[in-house]
Amino acid sequence: MIKEHEKRLNLLKERLDNLKEETPSEGSKDSQTDLAVEASQKPIVATEKELGQEADRPSGPVGIDIGTTHIAVAQNKRNHINLVKQLNAFFTIPESNFTRNILRQNDVTFFEQDGLFYIIGYSAEGFANMFAANTRRPMERGLLSANEPYAIKVINAIISTLILKPKNFGETICFGVPGPYIDGTGSVVYHESVIKRLLSSMGYTPVAINEGLAVVMSELADEAFTGIGISMGGGMCNVCLSYISVPVVTFSIQKAGDYIDAMAGISVGESATKMKLIKEGGLDLLKEPRSRITLALHIFYEELIFNLVESLHNVLSSTDRIPKISGPIPVVLSGGTAIPGGVKEKFESALKTVRLPVEISSVRIAEDPLHATAKGALIKGMSEGE
Ligand SMILES: Nc1ncnc2c1ncn2[C@@H]1O[C@H](COP(=O)(O)OP(=O)(O)OP(=O)(O)O)[C@@H](O)[C@H]1O
Ligand SMILES: [Mg+2]
Repeated sequence: MIKEHEKRLNLLKERLDNLKEETPSEGSKDSQTDLAVEASQKPIVATEKELGQEADRPSGPVGIDIGTTHIAVAQNKRNHINLVKQLNAFFTIPESNFTRNILRQNDVTFFEQDGLFYIIGYSAEGFANMFAANTRRPMERGLLSANEPYAIKVINAIISTLILKPKNFGETICFGVPGPYIDGTGSVVYHESVIKRLLSSMGYTPVAINEGLAVVMSELADEAFTGIGISMGGGMCNVCLSYISVPVVTFSIQKAGDYIDAMAGISVGESATKMKLIKEGGLDLLKEPRSRITLALHIFYEELIFNLVESLHNVLSSTDRIPKISGPIPVVLSGGTAIPGGVKEKFESALKTVRLPVEISSVRIAEDPLHATAKGALIKGMSEGE
């Protein structure tokens, strides 16, 4: 009898703890900004979306990173930032009743369109491998793809595997957007407006944040959100000079990880996919390259970093908007392309070749480069409601 009582008491305690974990800010007297700054100190716990795992109904502000390769959703929990991500890709197969049943039985997420099943997220990768083909992407170089007529529908379906409508209608959702390009073509306006409409239709109040600023929000709380945040992703590099969380200068270049894979591949007659695999398998830019392939990767990595620093120099030198900052400011590098060993050192060497109008105190790599944008967007979202 006592045992049974104890068991129920423990169960209740557990449920109460879970509840606290779900609603970290409830009942708190702290200002939204204090809570946001506090959240920036929390570690990220990231998981990939699993088959059959239900989408969440958020009970607080949400940060979302809609990147060329992944879509990641971040939420503030008691002791950590909870991040769940899904592959931003799809694969189509011909429609049939038999296949529909099999897909449903296996919890595969898909929708039907024009006689095809659109299989989305991580499942798409499995199907593509089975058919020895590539997955297709609704985004290209950081923006909605102009070549995929159902890009918006795919992104909508992918986001819906991660989050449903919020518990409180009109909850803030903050999403990352690229800054204006200084090279290439394409408009950020269309991309931003489409994503805004999509998130509104899900019951959220969408707020956009520049991707570079999101890196600052995630990494530079101790520096009063002052410094240069750079997100080096797949399709593009985004830069933001922030002064106490205000984006003073923002820009992007349409060259990043995909560019390295493509150019290095062309140079040695290998596919971009193979180059990407080798690159992600532990490239170290400080080690002497041992093969033609690694040499090509080193060359284009260095070219990208030099290009980025040169663009930073050109943009900062030609603006009259640089605030009078009292001391030197840090640079934080984030995104998948900032992961390999030596990126920090190569960036530092490139910095020595230019004279920036602001002094740099240090160059560092984000604590969790793949997830800093979503975390930064969440922090911005949390501070919005005041
Ligand atoms: N361990 C790794 N080493 C080297 N490169 C990596 C590693 N992991 C991921 N990458 C590269 O990082 C890039 C993807 O980074 P990220 O996920 O930050 O981009 P994204 O947000 O999807 O794209 P974007 O911001 O351009 O829209 C790809 O080019 C990928 O090859
Ligand atoms: Mg990104």
